[in-house]
Amino acid sequence: MIVPASDLLKQAKKEGHAIGAFNASTLEVTKAILQAAEELKTPVIIETSEGEANFEGYQIFADTVRDLADELAIDVAINLDHGKSLESVKYAIQSGYSSVHIDCSKMERKDNVALTREVVKFAHSRGVSVEGEFGHVGGSSEVHANELPKDGIVLTEPQEAIDYIKETGVDIFAGSYGNIHGMYKDAPHLDIERIRKIADGSGVPLSLHGGSGIPDDQIKAAIGAGICKINVNTELRKAYKESLERNLRGVNAEIVPYKYLPQVIADVKEVVKKKIVLFSASHHFE
Ligand code: 13P
Repeated sequence: MIVPASDLLKQAKKEGHAIGAFNASTLEVTKAILQAAEELKTPVIIETSEGEANFEGYQIFADTVRDLADELAIDVAINLDHGKSLESVKYAIQSGYSSVHIDCSKMERKDNVALTREVVKFAHSRGVSVEGEFGHVGGSSEVHANELPKDGIVLTEPQEAIDYIKETGVDIFAGSYGNIHGMYKDAPHLDIERIRKIADGSGVPLSLHGGSGIPDDQIKAAIGAGICKINVNTELRKAYKESLERNLRGVNAEIVPYKYLPQVIADVKEVVKKKIVLFSASHHFE
């Protein structure tokens, strides 16, 4: 069944684990994510950025996920990741997304609050949940050749986050706690106490962006402090590309897509399953 992400996250918060939010921009990755969640009997959030949705088509993506999820026993949320405008958020909701993340974190505070409030009003009246962001999470979902950038990372102040959540009425909060999008030569260091202060002070489920490349022990500590949603993109993109390259290598390589793409789905699915098991550590798998 398709549900708003906030339904899944309220439950996860109660149970003390996190739900994976995985980005997809091809049918193979969409299948890999849904099959992984179904095999582990866990709910999942499947999402596209605006760029990914523009490539696939908002409506095509939402319809595909709905059709595939109809066959499954798990709950699935369809999320717009880093929506940047009221127009793209409205378009996603009208296309059938059940959740939206509005990211105006680069704007002045008052403009961020004003736009986020408008999104909340529009989304809530249609049963769609909203994730807001305050304190910008930088980087991009790629494998970067350099070490983590040393300057320009501004961590979210807990009291500012708590005030922003109250003023906007968002259901889910994304902040900057040492996380960054993409994978670098070195691993990030999350500020676990900062996460705990925002989670305890606001009471809403917290979202951790930049889930790729964060060591497992830090992921577990972050969940313990109040993270309920973890976004992963780069590790899936990397697995997809490497699998495709392996399967297309050699002069006698298979040329029939439906013969070589199942292995790509299987390889991406393995990565998703490992993440789901890590995020649901308090959960028992059969
Ligand atoms: P990674 O690419 O680091 O996994 O981050 C994904 C993300 O946060 C999408 O919003």
